Amino acid sequence: MSGAAGRGTGGTIAAATRRGWGIGAGDDAAARLRRRFPTYRALQRRARWRVPRFAYDFVAGGVGDGAPNVAHNRAAMDQVRILPRYGVDVSRIETGVRLFGRDYAMPVGVAPMGNTGLIWPRADAILAAAAQRARIPYVSSTVANVSIEELARIAPDVLWFQLYGLPGDDHRLSFDLVARAERAGAQALLLTVDVPTRQKRVQDVRNGLSVPFRWRPRTVFDIATSPLWALEILRHGQPRFPNFAPYLGAGAGTADLAAFAYEKMTSGLTWEVMARIRDAWPRALILKGPLHPEDAERAIAIGFDGLLVTNHGGRQLDAAPASVDVLPAIVAQARGRATVMLDGSVRSGLDVARALALGAAGTLAGRAFLWSVAALGEAGGDHATAAFGEEIRGVFAQIGARSPEEAARATVQHPGALRFQPEAAAAPPSPIAAGRPPVLEGLAAR
Ligand SMILES: Cc1cc2nc3c(=O)[nH]c(=O)nc-3n(C[C@H](O)[C@H](O)[C@H](O)COP(=O)(O)O)c2cc1C
Repeated sequence: MSGAAGRGTGGTIAAATRRGWGIGAGDDAAARLRRRFPTYRALQRRARWRVPRFAYDFVAGGVGDGAPNVAHNRAAMDQVRILPRYGVDVSRIETGVRLFGRDYAMPVGVAPMGNTGLIWPRADAILAAAAQRARIPYVSSTVANVSIEELARIAPDVLWFQLYGLPGDDHRLSFDLVARAERAGAQALLLTVDVPTRQKRVQDVRNGLSVPFRWRPRTVFDIATSPLWALEILRHGQPRFPNFAPYLGAGAGTADLAAFAYEKMTSGLTWEVMARIRDAWPRALILKGPLHPEDAERAIAIGFDGLLVTNHGGRQLDAAPASVDVLPAIVAQARGRATVMLDGSVRSGLDVARALALGAAGTLAGRAFLWSVAALGEAGGDHATAAFGEEIRGVFAQIGARSPEEAARATVQHPGALRFQPEAAAAPPSPIAAGRPPVLEGLAAR
């Protein structure tokens, strides 16, 4: 946890910098940023102003026309209500969690995101450093713009690695990346199962998204009207995929690496390959993307330690349910045999608390961290981790929880929860229909 929000102050501005009464009274740099960018929305607006359209759309977008699943994730999250509980002494709130045998300071980490250098050069390094300072998980993507080895130096205590299937030559590259992640000290390996093929992200198609950039008139205009971003790109160069550099030789340029990354990711991971990776990887193994209880069950049978319930931030199947709506069913299926986590529209401490109350052991967030870096550059990582810490404490205090374990016992209303039990059709009418208080609906859904 960075700055004043982390320790014993309940997230308020440190007394030394206070110049009066009120949340806006602090005058250090972090306090000034908090005033200007108090929410995800403020950061996203600022990012929109700072970066070219094609880069903004790449992050904001999802699959299908208008990216409906991104909005659906948000709407579903907003529907989850938590009952406040009062009269509890919440002067000491602990936000720490133990995940896969390691201690982390908060039940939220940075989700794997590829090609983040498009939105801000060195975003991977900025977020990894912030995660290390905040002691929260940082998951590096296969297609990160900073290599797994460099990220291990930046975030040695909190690094996880995400793998896409690279099927050529009987998955030789996949297994080599697994071995490199182990040597680099990654504590957990996430296998992303929800990308059996690339998907059509309509905005990216319209924008002619390409790395290296295609110099169309519109690209030039976009870049010319984003001078801060353009200066950073001039300093650091266009995004590269350095995880692939060892396979191409020293002379490989940006375009070679980008073409290699694109060509090698032709199909996804099968259960058979995932079972072989289980044998090869000695630490925590997490399946990223199970949305059906039967897939969760299969993963548990193979020996996965964790299940990350996600629809890839609305980027893969526009008709997929919101991840938060599937979470209770996967938790029920896991029955404690695997650690269940959630991502998908986790934008604030409130969303983290919602996930905990629905049975997740922790969460990851993607865009919440990335917009912060796009908006604020170097300062964006710490700004985002401090905001999560402050908000988690604020929500915990409202629901009478002094720890994530106590937050997990909160009473929730979750009308969108999916039910998979075959007997569901024959189940008695919902508590609402039976005239009981609607708040019990969420409990019934668990
Ligand atoms: C720009 C961007 C790039 C992403 N790249 C990857 C990736 O390389 N590997 C992966 O498993 N998931 C990737 N994801 C999905 C995230 O890991 C995560 O599931 C998603 O962002 C969560 O939703 P949220 O952004 O609403 O928090 C990406 C998401 C975004 C926004």
